[in-house]
Parts: sequence; structure tokens; C-alpha cells
Amino acid sequence: MAAAIDDAKFHAFVGKMLGDLGGAMSVPTVRLGLRLGLFDALADAPATAADLARRAGGLHERYVREWALAQAANGYVDYDPASEQFSLSPEQAMVFHHRDSPVYLAGAFELVAAMIEAEPKVEECFRHGKGVRWGDHAGCLFCATGAFFRPGYVNNIVQAWLPALDGVEAKLHAGARVADVGCGVGFSTLLMAEAYPESSFVGYDFHEPSIDEARRHASEHGLGDRVRFEVATAKHIAEQGFDLITMYDCLHDMGDPRGCAQHMREILTPGGSWMIVEPIAGDAPAQNMNPVGRLYYNASTMICVPTSLDQEVGEGLGAQAGEAKLTEVIRQGGFESVRRAAEGPFNMVLEAR
Ligand SMILES: C[S@@+](CC[C@H](N)C(=O)[O-])C[C@H]1O[C@@H](n2cnc3c(N)ncnc32)[C@H](O)[C@@H]1O
Repeated sequence: MAAAIDDAKFHAFVGKMLGDLGGAMSVPTVRLGLRLGLFDALADAPATAADLARRAGGLHERYVREWALAQAANGYVDYDPASEQFSLSPEQAMVFHHRDSPVYLAGAFELVAAMIEAEPKVEECFRHGKGVRWGDHAGCLFCATGAFFRPGYVNNIVQAWLPALDGVEAKLHAGARVADVGCGVGFSTLLMAEAYPESSFVGYDFHEPSIDEARRHASEHGLGDRVRFEVATAKHIAEQGFDLITMYDCLHDMGDPRGCAQHMREILTPGGSWMIVEPIAGDAPAQNMNPVGRLYYNASTMICVPTSLDQEVGEGLGAQAGEAKLTEVIRQGGFESVRRAAEGPFNMVLEAR
């Protein structure tokens, strides 16, 4: 016989599901609002739907009104029924308007869309156990990923993560050679290059369209030949003699992270440092049953595990591997010391020497 339903638990669970579904259904309308400039237009001043439609460049009022009411129901914009005006609070603007805010979430919504687009490919993986090539996931997974991580990098790499490493900041100010491995579209590389004008930087990634995009970004920054971007798998980077190697949110995506660790040891100078930024996670899955772990486990199922399983070895660390497992992988490369140098709500920063 089926177990009896606990009414209170049942109502609480269905209430949670309603909230979750509302969040899921907000994905397309939020993306429309970001692309059509509706959140930006609201950041200037409160507006009725008609004002907002005009301010956003002459959109159709009926659509804008429904969109604005949806965002008000989401709690993503405020609504004053008396004046029928919509507005963006300072807190909402941090999420939907200010590009350099640590919680600007446009990239997160793009990432969700990319995960949904790649669903049939990942479904097949569950049957055959193989993977999905990074470039085959969805139209622009790589742009979404760059946009998703950028706010965290803008607010942490130079301010907190690099200074937490042993003696690295001084080397960067004096002039160091840096490799940013798995650099994607290059935001991390360019942020470092702008902050340390005496140093030179090479961004490596095995995905050619990402490197093309990184080169395009670099050309907009005018950093000259201090920054280069090259297509290479982490294990086959030919240049050597780097004082610092950085890996931002990518070691767990690699098929052979142990082999990569070994190669990183080989291409570093003897006193060099390797900084590995990875999603924050406890060592036991039970420690990750929280909102951040929830995001990462879902993304990992759809993106990180298929990406790793598509490559040689196919270790499939997953985005919630945890510090103990990562340390073991890194040590296999011949690194004597691995420590957690810094952490934030979304990332941990490991330093290997
Ligand atoms: C989650 S993305 C992170 C990209 C970038 N570091 C960022 O934070 O925006 C993972 C990146 O690792 C790259 N990647 C995965 N496996 C790789 C490998 N074996 N060698 C080089 N790059 C790899 C992918 O192409 C992708 O750009």
C-alpha cells in the first residue's frame, strides 16, 4: 500500500514546485527583455507599458505590457497599480542592468537556454555513455559560458584571487609569463592583462570559435602583443617557461585532468604556480544539496560531464568534484603543495606549486 501523504509536506513541496516552474518559465521572457533592452530602459526611470515600449525603441505596447506584468509577477521588476508604472529597484538593477555587478545574471539565463537546446544530445549520452563535444552542445554555449562567468571574474580575479597566491602578485607586477589554459572567450585573460601591464599572457583553448572570439575581444582592448590567443588542448601546449598558469572553471571539464596536471608541471618554471579556479563544493555530495550545488549539478549533467566524457580518458570529474578529489588529481601531476588559497560563494581557488 502507498505510504500516507503528509498534508503539510505535500503543500510545501507543491508550493516549491510552483516557484521552480515560475523560474523556469521566466527564462525566455527574461532573455527577451535583456535582448530588447527592456530592463535597461526601465533602469532610467519608472515607466508605464506604453512609455517603456517607446523608450525601448518603438516596440509593440501589447507585448511590452504582458512582458512587464510577467516580470512583476516574477518579482524581477516592481509594479505600482495606482500609476500603472513599472520600475527597477537598485537591487533588481544589480541582476538585470549593471554589466559589472557580481550578480549580473544575463549569462546565467543564456546558459539555461543552451542547456535546453542540447537536451536531445545529452539524452543520447545517457544511453551510449559517450560525450558531447564542447563545440557541439548548442548554438552558443561558449558565448553563454563566457557571459555567465564574467561577472565573477571582473569582481574577483584581480581583487582577491591572484593576491591570495604566494608571491604571485609581485611577479605579475615585475613582469611574468602567464598561460590562461581553457580560456574560452578570453575574459579572464584580458582582465589579467589589463591589470598587470608588465606581464605577457597567452590564452589557450581547444575550441577554435572561442579563440576567434577571444581574439576579437582582445582587438577591442588594444593590449598589443602582450596578449595572444592560441588553439591547443591543455595537454599539448608546446610553449614552456610560464611563471603562472591559470585555469578558470575548466579543469573538471577536461577528459584527462591528471594528464593535464602533469603537463602543467612540465610547462611551468621550477618556482611557478598553477591557480585552479573551480566551482565551490563540499567533498561529499550531501554537502552540496543547497542552491549553489543545485545549479552546478544541473549544469554538470548537461555540460561538464558530457564535455569530459567526449575526450580521451573521460574522467568526468563533474562540477562538484570537491577539494579533496581535485587535490588528488593535481598532485598526480607532480605538484608537492596544493592549498585552498581563496573562496567565494561560487568558487574555490586552489594553488598548486
Ligand atoms: C566551462 S568553460 C570555461 C571557459 C573559461 N575559462 C571561462 O571561465 O569562461 C570550459 C572551457 O574549457 C575548454 N576545454 C575543455 N577541455 C579542454 C582541453 N582538454 N583542452 C583545452 N581546453 C579545454 C572548453 O573549450 C571551454 O572553453
